[in-house]
Amino acid sequence: MSIEHEVLSFLESNKGKSISGSQMAVELKVSRNAVWKAIKKLQEDGYSIEAGTNRGYCLRTDNAVLSVQGIKKYLKSDYFRIELFKSVTSTNTVLKQMAENGAPEGTVVIAEEQTMGKGRYGRSFYSPSNTGIYMSILLRPKLSATHSLYITTCAAVAVSSAIESNSDKRAEIKWVNDVYCDNKKVCGILTEAAFDIESGGMSYAVLGIGINIFPPRQDFPYELKNAADSIFKNESENEDFRGRIIADVLNVFMHYYPTLERKEFLSEYRERSMLLSQPIYIIRNGYTEEAVALDIDDAFQLEVRLGDGSITKLSSGEVSIRKK
Ligand code: BTN
Repeated sequence: MSIEHEVLSFLESNKGKSISGSQMAVELKVSRNAVWKAIKKLQEDGYSIEAGTNRGYCLRTDNAVLSVQGIKKYLKSDYFRIELFKSVTSTNTVLKQMAENGAPEGTVVIAEEQTMGKGRYGRSFYSPSNTGIYMSILLRPKLSATHSLYITTCAAVAVSSAIESNSDKRAEIKWVNDVYCDNKKVCGILTEAAFDIESGGMSYAVLGIGINIFPPRQDFPYELKNAADSIFKNESENEDFRGRIIADVLNVFMHYYPTLERKEFLSEYRERSMLLSQPIYIIRNGYTEEAVALDIDDAFQLEVRLGDGSITKLSSGEVSIRKK
């Protein structure tokens, strides 16, 4: 670990308290000058560190910049290897490249900003700096293509649970993997997988999760304003929320992941499902049809009653759904 990381780690574990430069120098076995240089660099990188002549250094409780140390302190296991970036094109793209180069399962890429954030169906995902969570998790599960949807649906449960543990919001899942609070989308999930042609098994999956935590500093673009929202209304509410939510998503996901094929998360998925018993619009090949959502089956197909009374099952990917 570099001195900078060690200093940050020290300050993270004493967040809100002043620590003298000499105490840090002794504990980290470096010179006071090295501590001072590390603090300057961290301040330049945007960390809110107060420095007083006699008070030492203090990482403010409202520090808004993410750090690996600030996430790790809320993690329940050391399974994950987190890499944090200021700005990337897309965390999925970066992690896919790392996967191709042999990165191990559990590698996590997180960025403060994405310049080409990707959504489903080739759409883009708005990813402004410092107010959201943009993370991708590398998985190498023994799953067939038909079961790959379990990754995404389990992640939707993990995100919903993490939101509810850290806010007073109720989080609901819009089939198949968008997370909503107060009827607006706060999270999108995009899983990209590579398969081994010979065995048909999955070589790896990159699970990408984007969550709007605070309102974007320049507001949502016009076309998203009515549909998207953030979990918190104000950045001044910041109490490590991004770090806590990232860690909780990883904690809950890891709880289910080792036995993913048993779908132990399915009952919670159904309970959180915002479409069930609701009138909906089915949009398919440019045509819109009215229906009522009835159930989600064990393969995550949406069972619906169509206008003529017939009942049918829809697969994600072939239709999109809007609440009426
Ligand atoms: C969607 O709502 O259509 C899915 C959005 C997925 C966004 C996340 S943000 C982290 C990861 N990197 C990306 O480029 N996309 C996913």
